[in-house]
Amino acid sequence: MLDLLVTNAALPDGRTNMSVAVRNGKIIDVAEGLQAAARDTVDARGYLLTPHFCDPHFHMDSVLSYGMPRVNDSGTLLEGIQLWGELKPTLVQDDIVRRALAYCDWAIAKGLLAIRSHVDTSDPRLLAVDALLEVKRRVAPFIDLQLVAFPQDGVLRSPGGVENLKRALDKGVDVVGGIPHFERTMGEGAASVKLLCEIAAERGALVDMHCDETDDPMSRHIETLAFEAQRLGLQGRVAGSHCTSMHSMDNYYVSKLLPLIAESGVSVIANPLINITLQGRHDTYPKRRGMTRVPELMAAGVTVAFGHDCVMDPWYAMGSGDMLDVAHMGLHVAQMTSQKGIRACFDAVTGNAAKVMHLDGYGIAPGCDASFVLLQARDPIEAIRLRANRLKVWKKGVALAETAEVTSRLLYKPEHCPS
Ligand code: FE2
Repeated sequence: MLDLLVTNAALPDGRTNMSVAVRNGKIIDVAEGLQAAARDTVDARGYLLTPHFCDPHFHMDSVLSYGMPRVNDSGTLLEGIQLWGELKPTLVQDDIVRRALAYCDWAIAKGLLAIRSHVDTSDPRLLAVDALLEVKRRVAPFIDLQLVAFPQDGVLRSPGGVENLKRALDKGVDVVGGIPHFERTMGEGAASVKLLCEIAAERGALVDMHCDETDDPMSRHIETLAFEAQRLGLQGRVAGSHCTSMHSMDNYYVSKLLPLIAESGVSVIANPLINITLQGRHDTYPKRRGMTRVPELMAAGVTVAFGHDCVMDPWYAMGSGDMLDVAHMGLHVAQMTSQKGIRACFDAVTGNAAKVMHLDGYGIAPGCDASFVLLQARDPIEAIRLRANRLKVWKKGVALAETAEVTSRLLYKPEHCPS
């Protein structure tokens, strides 16, 4: 007897009329037209069953703090950082936990079951670190929450930056973060990349750095990150987040940089919603889009994933935890409008993001976790076009959320209808 059988599902790879059989939280079979006895059988009616969404770049310590204590008037990254600096001394641990848990509920309803969140380690109290470690423990049955030690004020620039980051890692934070473009000079930025990669190599930790989140074409910390990843044998364990300066770099330099990134096994995380709103703010017209070179990185063999980055915080007033929103913006900003391009944007918030996060048991195949989402769409392209409704969300075979099918009823008589 199976625990769960989903029948007549479309899968992201294009197969249709597929059944997915689940026992003890794992997928045990995926086969066309399979029928078998199960405690719970769900007819997908041809809709798309996808592995759950993953957000590889988020800030859960600031989520849902929009307007506290004021809003970001200029809309720039720097005013956001300043505003966060004003908010930080007033933060209370319980409040961070409460906001984060509220967001996790939103995420589950949207089928977002894995989140990599940066957590600011600049405050020596490590209040946000303790809060998010508590959130991680509480949401563990539902969400894989991975934490990145993120020295928001610069690991070298802020007093005690290195010690605070190491203390956060000692407490159980998983990944080493950084922000080289916010250090005092290019030299200190490069030194911070080297130091942080060495800390990660010593501890066997992954690396995910905010890297070159600027429109300055000379911000080239991604080059140092790729070099250090290779030097320290961290291939496949390092991600560069944002990398927006690459948008503005000289094309000749980029032609040399892309193979270096590919060779070093560094993956890149773009954050389309945030990049299109924060970058280009010093431009008059034309205004740069600012997002990194997504299709070119993908073509060079680099794993590229998309993150949400912010939801209702000092940097971004919008957002609802919907990774299809992120993919939708990504395909517009990167002009990835071919069928292949749109599917690649879907991968950027599913499989590629799971790969960046080193998730185990991800996918719809025998042996994988039965953690998937039934969307009210026939394929990944329609899913992005409609920002499709999440009909049902399962984690390891357990149903966590459902939403009624959305249908609109016309209240007038269309002219083309026979009377
Ligand atoms: Fe970020």
